[in-house]
Amino acid sequence: MERLDKFLCDSGVGTRSQVKVILKSGRVTVDGRAEKDAARKIDPNTQTVCLDGEVLGGYRRIVAMMNKPAGFVTATEDPVEKTVMELLPPEYRNLDLKPVGRLDKATEGLLLFTNDGDLLHRLISPKKEIPKVYYARHEGQAGDEDVAAFSAGLILRDETHCLPAKLESLGPGESLITVCEGKYHQVRRMMASRGMPVTYLERREEGPLTLGDLPRGQVRELTEAEIAML
Ligand code: URA
Repeated sequence: MERLDKFLCDSGVGTRSQVKVILKSGRVTVDGRAEKDAARKIDPNTQTVCLDGEVLGGYRRIVAMMNKPAGFVTATEDPVEKTVMELLPPEYRNLDLKPVGRLDKATEGLLLFTNDGDLLHRLISPKKEIPKVYYARHEGQAGDEDVAAFSAGLILRDETHCLPAKLESLGPGESLITVCEGKYHQVRRMMASRGMPVTYLERREEGPLTLGDLPRGQVRELTEAEIAML
């Protein structure tokens, strides 16, 4: 059994305060009868809740992938900056999705979202060490010594110790970097520490997931098979 207002929120009908107004307006029915009591307990398995005659489903676990464009901060709210939440299609706006980890404002590429708190914590746990692959454009060219320094584990100027990481040169000013952790500005700081400041950064892979042909700024839900791989 759960509260009717929570069920409506979980169904993506609106925020808590929007749900209050919707209930008052008499647009919600439980088993065909209008219901205005937010605290009414319902059993989603046996009862049918409708809004304007349309059946609602309640909580559904969602894991979605965004191809983040530059210029948006990874946060659920920000007083000044545009946030990645503004890029979610309207049907995902009220489902309590949270970004999984973060990408800098200037960084593009693969960013996951979920409304499953347990999964969120598992994915951002430092113990998990999920490899993330970044494509970087940068000054200079990565050489053998840089590759060796990355794989030994860099120590940054402020004494931050990085886990061993993979650096692969794609030619002058272009590299792929694989890291298994997510420290603040990590890839940019790692590259800068080797004299190769980054001018462009894109996350292309996270664990078994790749951006594929998802266009920049677009969002798609993961398939059950993809979620299972996580
Ligand atoms: N490393 C960075 O420097 N920035 C990101 O956004 C992600 C990894």
